[in-house]
Amino acid sequence: MLTMIKGPYLQWPTEESMTFMWETSKPATSRVEVMRAERIHSGYQGNYKQPEQILASAENSGYSLIHQLTVSGLEPGTIYFYKVYSQNEQEAAEAGPFPFKTAMLPGEPFSFTVTSETGGYSGFDITGGEINNSIFAQMKKYRPDFSLFIGDIVNDRTNYADWDQYFFSPGKELLQDTPSFSCLGNHENGGSWYYDFFAFTAPKNYYSFDYGDAHFIALDSTDFINNDTYPASSGKFQAGNAQYDFLVQDLQNTSAKWKIVYFHYSPYVSGGYQVEALRALCPLLEQHSVDLVLSSHTIVYERSYPLRSGRLDFKDGIVYVVAGGAGAMPEWLLPKREWFTSQSLAVPHFLQVAVTPQQLEIRAIDHQGALFDKFSIFKDMDGAKKYI
Ligand SMILES: [Fe+2]
Repeated sequence: MLTMIKGPYLQWPTEESMTFMWETSKPATSRVEVMRAERIHSGYQGNYKQPEQILASAENSGYSLIHQLTVSGLEPGTIYFYKVYSQNEQEAAEAGPFPFKTAMLPGEPFSFTVTSETGGYSGFDITGGEINNSIFAQMKKYRPDFSLFIGDIVNDRTNYADWDQYFFSPGKELLQDTPSFSCLGNHENGGSWYYDFFAFTAPKNYYSFDYGDAHFIALDSTDFINNDTYPASSGKFQAGNAQYDFLVQDLQNTSAKWKIVYFHYSPYVSGGYQVEALRALCPLLEQHSVDLVLSSHTIVYERSYPLRSGRLDFKDGIVYVVAGGAGAMPEWLLPKREWFTSQSLAVPHFLQVAVTPQQLEIRAIDHQGALFDKFSIFKDMDGAKKYI
């Protein structure tokens, strides 16, 4: 039977387009239809009329297993519905309608969630995936505009089944109406599925995007660390290395109000698996006024004080948050916190981040929905910061 075995799921939201992906059980064609979302007091999906009017579509008559189509010409920050279709000579499959929202323009508030380790924790997980299900369900309640995954979303880089078990199956409901971004964790690095299942801009292991007033940069920290001598540096923090050059150029070219950088290994965490060599990136990030660095790898939550030049700096420091999310390894924490640790707790969790032109508001929420940390960075018109 022809069925959709992954997704549909959303990728790469822009102010005027969305990319739709899904996987079918057999090779088949691809088609997506985007429909107008008309508000009413109550009705389909709560407050919308049954979507009927097709505004745009895209299709590929060639056969494939993994399907990827982009629909452009849409309005920014707008809700639409979509349906996807696949068929071969004998059978047809379809899914939807599901809602989606295009990216916000600068000046418009938005929110996103952050987690990681949906697969990285699997080797320790005695709950059989319950934590992953809870984390995805809790994140969905916050109705994020998109969701970041900071790596190790699968356990075994070469195992195709992992992608369904740890990510696409528990994440199905969230991912079908919420675009997702990820970066390469050590558990994905060296396999091809990350490249097949995500529609990031090439080379995919590092990229950047804008959303509202924020500029996001995803880095491949596995490439900055030598695999054979982990956690030693690979010596690539220098001009001439493609990823390093990309980072320098990208930071130079953005004028976004907020700069958020995410990569898998943690430069600051008061626990095992800290990768101190990555602090070599900090001077560059400081020079370009990055506000927030997100990492995972150590399966705990930890938030640093604002840091600059290796010291606390409450005027212009970068806050480093370890969102080692979908799991918890309390035994990986050191007996006591480090000098840079503001808050730290080993509980399964995700972050909910609300972004406005003046404020970055970050909440850490556990897998049962309880808030256990909250902080804000305020920035005035001149760029002066306040941390609360
Ligand atoms: Fe990791």
